[in-house]
Amino acid sequence: MTLTLPQATFAPDADRPLVTIVIPTFNERDNIAVICGRIAASLDRHPFEVIVVDDDSPDGTSAVVESLAKADSRIRIITRTGRRGLAGACIEGMLAARSELVAVMDADLQHEPATLVPMLDLMASTKCDIVIASRYVDDPDVAAFSSVRQALSNAGNRLVRALLRVQTSDPMSGFFLMRRSILVKAEPRLSRDGFKLLADILVQGGRAMKIEEVPYVFGPRLTGQSKLDERVLFDFAVLLIAKSVFGALPTRFVSFALVGGLGVIVHLALLGLMLYVLNDNFLLSQTAATLGAMTANFFLNNVLTYRDQRIVGIDLLRGLAVFCLSCSCGAFNNILFAHLIYTATGIWWLATGVGILVGAACNYVLSALTVWRRFDKRQDREKQAPEGDAVLSKGGGDVGIAQPPYVSR
Ligand code: GDD
Ligand code: MN
Repeated sequence: MTLTLPQATFAPDADRPLVTIVIPTFNERDNIAVICGRIAASLDRHPFEVIVVDDDSPDGTSAVVESLAKADSRIRIITRTGRRGLAGACIEGMLAARSELVAVMDADLQHEPATLVPMLDLMASTKCDIVIASRYVDDPDVAAFSSVRQALSNAGNRLVRALLRVQTSDPMSGFFLMRRSILVKAEPRLSRDGFKLLADILVQGGRAMKIEEVPYVFGPRLTGQSKLDERVLFDFAVLLIAKSVFGALPTRFVSFALVGGLGVIVHLALLGLMLYVLNDNFLLSQTAATLGAMTANFFLNNVLTYRDQRIVGIDLLRGLAVFCLSCSCGAFNNILFAHLIYTATGIWWLATGVGILVGAACNYVLSALTVWRRFDKRQDREKQAPEGDAVLSKGGGDVGIAQPPYVSR
């Protein structure tokens, strides 16, 4: 039996753009029209489309883009509600693209739209997989950076290249052009958090990927503020560790372990302080330092490791109590395993090392199951309820989950 397909009602390739420029935005109301205009002026010879991915910016960026889209059908918008994250926004934009080539650039004009032309030309002439606009081809210093950010950027750059073994001068550039098919393949393994999407794509894309670079000058922001903050830096550290040294570990565990490391610093600082205040009473000082470190760890994990299922309000107290209990269990196992290994081998560093690892794993699993998981389930139930949003918003004073992640940022 032959199947007769209806006459094609669409023109397969004629109205397909050559390239889609994905622009992630958060509070870029005053920049977005300028960048769209500059892209249109630069790409006058190339059929293109712009997809703005806005995380429901409080400044009304979405409304501005909607009116731009009404006037110019080459501009589209995706508004994501209840979510934040630069990498995730770029990925969604690229997945929604209709073209085979996709570019990502910032909205604040720190990336020069005219650079898109040499990027497209290079891609056509070399048939490469990705063209990275690099800040470091000609000049190792970026004029728009403060000296602190320059130092951080250089260190991060060196670290990324060494740990992730990627071959490019600017693996942390936010400005690149690539084949959509490669993004689609890597997408399930890409991290949604943080700013370092390109480094992640380069790692997941593997060594077979053909990379080219064009130089550009990272300019000053047109208006508004950068969203790169401590949390973004923390995400970056987690991504680096999770993807390099311990490729097999979940990023959540790496985040939990990093917070644990910070807890050791808090513990030592508190211990010193309490020993001084309490006239060298070690037992009391050690108890206070332990409680203080656990409390700090609980709050840090709540906003960093479990920010997507963050506990708020009165439930914080219950969460803290359960967290301290699960940590006690971890501490018990830590001592037990260290003792067993020390008795068997007599090697103190091995015993302590294994003890710390077992204790950390125990804390992680227990707190995931008892502290954050409990609230997570409750959130899932509420999401399924008919008036999801109304119920989520702390109805009945019972719900301890923050409104969707990042809203308070
Ligand atoms: N949708 C969405 N969601 N967009 C976001 C978010 C978010 O959570 N956070 C930031 N953006 C958008 C901004 O509105 C801007 O268009 C772009 O992402 C870059 O954000 P900036 O806050 O301007 O970042 P930056 O200038 O400090 O960092 C730039 O340089 C880094 C390397 O030093 C970016 O290009 C980074 O990607 C790059 O890694
Ligand atoms: Mn910027």
